Amino acid sequence: MTDPILSAGLARIAEEIDGAFDALLPIPDDARARLVEAMRYASIGGGKRLRPLLLTAVAEMYGVVREAAIRAAIAIESIHVYSLIHDDLPCMDDDAVRHGKPTVHLAFDEATAVLAGDSLHAFAFEVLGDPATSADPFTRIELVQALGHASGAQGMAGGQMMDLVAETSEFDLQTVTRLQQLKTGALLGAAVEMGAILGRLPPEGRAHLRGYARDIGLAFQIADDLIDHEGDASVAGKAVGKDAEAGKETFVSLLGPDRARDQARMLVEQAIGHLAQHGKEADLLRAVARYIIERDH
Ligand code: IPE
Ligand code: IPE
Ligand code: MG
Ligand code: MG
Ligand code: MG
Repeated sequence: MTDPILSAGLARIAEEIDGAFDALLPIPDDARARLVEAMRYASIGGGKRLRPLLLTAVAEMYGVVREAAIRAAIAIESIHVYSLIHDDLPCMDDDAVRHGKPTVHLAFDEATAVLAGDSLHAFAFEVLGDPATSADPFTRIELVQALGHASGAQGMAGGQMMDLVAETSEFDLQTVTRLQQLKTGALLGAAVEMGAILGRLPPEGRAHLRGYARDIGLAFQIADDLIDHEGDASVAGKAVGKDAEAGKETFVSLLGPDRARDQARMLVEQAIGHLAQHGKEADLLRAVARYIIERDH
């Protein structure tokens, strides 16, 4: 990670997101304390903050006030963190380590982990609906709609369902592509879309950004599958080798690691190609696209 634009962007967003979660999730002085402690445990001090980075990078290109972009970024990161808490549960991937520390259901208990996920899910939409995110109610509704669509059965949760079915079915490349577009592509796409919504970019002006998001979404998931296939658990901060163990069809199982890597590189070049109309204001988005396949965690 030598690109100075990328390292500065990652460091800045990490600090802002940690600070905002800390400020927005005070621990109540009653029996709910354990719930909020679990929410804080999962959301503060871990993760690459890729979705917030994408959202704020796009918002910045269109002159959005930073505070508004950070609030929308907190919303999408809350959905992501909730999805990870539930993904790690015994009834799903049954994982013990996330971000280099015990998963929420082990550090707390399963019921608390379920509730922490539920509460982060609700919190996301509460934050978006607050006038502090945007004074314009139409913008707020559009943000809610975009994130809702990307989170539910037509997005992340739908992809997670397909991912579970993938353990016992023979999926072809087309079906695995669809699965990954929902499981991870939808939220990455929503990050870009929400930046554009805050920037008041009309839908017809967003086509190139959607193309960029679609390509990095697939490249991102190929990189995640490659990390699972050949990564180092201590570097990844989570268990590896889980997909093969579960008998899951992924890009790596279908294409083999070399072709999967070539495909990811091709997608990143294609993603950067979508930004041709932009000058250096899109350099952070270009750097994020490259980082997505170079990362080791
Ligand atoms: C991991 O996502 C889970 C998937 C969606 C495949 P990230 O790699 O973005 O997770 P963190 O938050 O940075 O750990
Ligand atoms: C999880 O996918 C995706 C979501 C939480 C939506 P994975 O199960 O592949 O993620 P990791 O590998 O545990 O991070
Ligand atoms: Mg999973
Ligand atoms: Mg998992
Ligand atoms: Mg994975």
